[in-house]
Amino acid sequence: MFYSEDLVEEIRTKNDIVDVISGYVKLQRKGSSYFGLCPFHNEKSASFSVSPQKQMYYCFGCGAGGNVFTFLMEYEHYSFPEALKVLADRAGIALPEQEMNEEMKRQQNLRSQILDLNKMAAKYFYYQLRSERGAAGMKYLKDRKLDDETIHRFGLGYANKYSDDLYRYLKGKNISDELLAKSGLMQVDERKGMYDKFWNRVIFPIMDVNGKVIGFGGRVMGDGKPKYLNSPETVVFDKSRNLYGLHFARTSRKKQLLICEGYMDVISLHQAGFTNAVASLGTALTSQHASLIKRYTDEVILTYDSDEAGVRAALRAIPLLKEAGVNAKVLDMRPYKDPDEFIKALGAEEFRKRIDEAQNSFLFETDVLQKSYDMNDPQGKTAFYEEVASKLMRFELELERENYIEAVAGRYGVSMESLRKMVNRMALKGMNVAKAAPARSARTEKEAGILKSQKLLLTWLIEYPCLYRSVRQYLKPEDFTGDIYCTVARLLFEQYDNGESNPARIIDYFTEPEDQSRAAALFHSTLSVESTAEMEKAFRETLRKILEHSLDERSAKLDPADMEGLQKLIQDRKKLSEISRIHVEFQ
Ligand code: GTP
Ligand code: MN
Repeated sequence: MFYSEDLVEEIRTKNDIVDVISGYVKLQRKGSSYFGLCPFHNEKSASFSVSPQKQMYYCFGCGAGGNVFTFLMEYEHYSFPEALKVLADRAGIALPEQEMNEEMKRQQNLRSQILDLNKMAAKYFYYQLRSERGAAGMKYLKDRKLDDETIHRFGLGYANKYSDDLYRYLKGKNISDELLAKSGLMQVDERKGMYDKFWNRVIFPIMDVNGKVIGFGGRVMGDGKPKYLNSPETVVFDKSRNLYGLHFARTSRKKQLLICEGYMDVISLHQAGFTNAVASLGTALTSQHASLIKRYTDEVILTYDSDEAGVRAALRAIPLLKEAGVNAKVLDMRPYKDPDEFIKALGAEEFRKRIDEAQNSFLFETDVLQKSYDMNDPQGKTAFYEEVASKLMRFELELERENYIEAVAGRYGVSMESLRKMVNRMALKGMNVAKAAPARSARTEKEAGILKSQKLLLTWLIEYPCLYRSVRQYLKPEDFTGDIYCTVARLLFEQYDNGESNPARIIDYFTEPEDQSRAAALFHSTLSVESTAEMEKAFRETLRKILEHSLDERSAKLDPADMEGLQKLIQDRKKLSEISRIHVEFQ
């Protein structure tokens, strides 16, 4: 759905950013801004700022930043339309109805019908568990050491031993067989007709990130088979795009997610205070899971079962996560089988220690690899080193590769020297020699300095609109060389030319959250300067640096035959010397 810029703007201006963020973060006024503890990283002193003038937030600690939409998208993990909807509701603005074709309407309708149905079923199971007939289920859960609060929090339930109980209940609510068949709650049998999928089991409702019930898992209360029964995939239940416990874990404000195998593991971890635990839904971790995880964190701890299947699952998950940009560590629960057993036996504190000791995934892989070689045989040992070297070769960053060579050498008793040689020889043999990268560091450093100047100037421009006249005289938006910088400068210049100053609106120009944060950062640089005289000097210096850099870039790119361009360049160069004489006033 496309909403007009004006509508987006109206919704934004009717939701004061300080009001909205105050609902999530305790803010205190300090000067012209508000400060609080950043909700996007762990900190003890407040470096998260919210500016009522700019209608933006920015964290000086982690660089998160944006406007009120960005905040909700980052904090609640909403999409832009979702954030827009919430804020429109908050301000009492009606959004225009989405234009849908018949097929879209039908699907939408089916989705919401099945979600409603799941909710009814979840409630039904929930009450069954608490009724007399649910005593067996309650006893089972209590025997597994779940307390009342946990049972309530996860909405656990019970399907009693009659196989048409839920069916009859839902028929009583006038639900059609057609819908029931699509919901996954029923089994359809040619002879027997329709009957409940779940009976005589404790029920684990499965929720999506927003807490909507999308499916169910049911466990036998003993040793029957199958141990767990899961809902089939439906229009609302996609096993490879959802994780059990994620709707709680996403707001746990912990650095990592803990990924385990089973529902019971998640539940007992949460009960023990590890509210960042999630599990896949009875299937292996997929690349879609990995991308989902990446939306919330850059690091996970795999707490898969200690058995061979758990090791295999970890070995499969590590590269998928890595591919998505998520670093994995592996937690060792031995001698216990899974988190649930571990916590019951040794308690939360011991588990926390194991988290701190979790193993680097590369070393986990090489440890497993080592087991398949005969390390007492020189031949086997060499073959092992060779395989490890070929893995080491894949680290592109030299420093990282070196660090791993060092770690592996120490771990498996081989000298760093010979391991490094082996890696290098293999690299030379296996691939075309990579072209030596030009010495870039001096250049990169200079670029970074220029970007810093550009950022500073943009911040000043917002804080002191009076500077715009001087800036406009010397700089064009194109003189800002960073990609985002140039766009932000262009939008800001346009605003000033129209007599407007509205930095928060600029953020909406960018669609990627990362770009929004980067754009917000441009309005939040800091430079500690003592006096106004110093500040004026810094301003002139900054202006000069940016112009000079832009002129240098232009002359490097200039076609020698372009006489007009050359003339222009010479003229612009003259401006450079004028800058030291301009008079500016910060006020
Ligand atoms: P408990 O024995 O209750 O502690 O279970 P667990 O959480 O330790 O589960 P386990 O490690 O045995 O299995 C992990 C996950 O795999 C479960 O949460 C289920 O999602 C799934 N699973 C286990 N057994 C079955 C089964 O028999 N059928 C299906 N479809 N899935 C299963
Ligand atoms: Mn278990």
